[in-house]
Amino acid sequence: MSRIAYVNGQYVPHRRAAVHVEDRGYQFADGVYEVIAVRNGHLVDLAPHFDRLDRSLGELDIEAPMPHAVMSFILKAIVRRNRVKDGIVYLQITRGVAPRDHQFPTDAMAAMVVTARNTIPKVAQREAGIGVISTPDNRWKRCDIKTISLLPNVLAKQKAFEAGAYEAWQVDQGGYVTEGSATNAWIVTKEGEIITRQADEAILSGVTRLAVMALAERDGITLIERPFSLEEAKAAKEAFLTSTTSNVMPVIEIDGSPIGNGHPGTVTRSLSDLYERFANSD
Ligand code: PDD
Repeated sequence: MSRIAYVNGQYVPHRRAAVHVEDRGYQFADGVYEVIAVRNGHLVDLAPHFDRLDRSLGELDIEAPMPHAVMSFILKAIVRRNRVKDGIVYLQITRGVAPRDHQFPTDAMAAMVVTARNTIPKVAQREAGIGVISTPDNRWKRCDIKTISLLPNVLAKQKAFEAGAYEAWQVDQGGYVTEGSATNAWIVTKEGEIITRQADEAILSGVTRLAVMALAERDGITLIERPFSLEEAKAAKEAFLTSTTSNVMPVIEIDGSPIGNGHPGTVTRSLSDLYERFANSD
């Protein structure tokens, strides 16, 4: 089956999907994106993805190219046309095409692309747990905006890959964990409370993070939003990470040191089960 992409108003064969060389996304990373999960052919938690997209666009002063209803139609069409059952849909909006000049162009129209693909569920990793490494957070000060400018994240993830780890937890100058290269970071205390950094400008407010917060609250798990240090994480009872593509993933090792008993913990497992049920029924 040939894959189909949406590019600026047209559905085109994926292998020929292309944008102009002077697209500002290509030249300046001047754009934003969303990755939305697909389960059983349905988009998971679409509304908060749109909320975050609107916020990212607003912060960069990029005008949305179309209303949510039309965007939603295109996302669903791309999922259907690519026969995605379990996977992801990727949406990117840039400031558009204009002669290269740093200041905003006056007449460019925002450019939008959408792709989708099936992915293999990370069941084995979720069962066994994964390892993370720590790395200095050297990103800019507006990590709350989901921009396509991801070079530090790419370098952090590559460092994790080369170390045989699943993810890199970024650590700020005060020694506090901000987030992973593409995931939010969590720990569980000896008292069974879950801790994740407050959604300030140092992290991306994850849609999965928000869903897990709501599920935890409903399940009577105490949630504390505050920064935690790398030392505290290494001494935690449990740790996990969340994202659209990793869901709730147990972290059993940080920089080679085992967390808790070195196996996925009970609080993490129960949150992971709750999240799976939520995502499959959304
Ligand atoms: N990454 N933090 C960062 C830096 C991220 O890039 C992501 C998502 C998250 C988790 O957000 P969410 O729960 O909404 O997926 C946190 C996506 C999946 C990516 O870039 O592929």
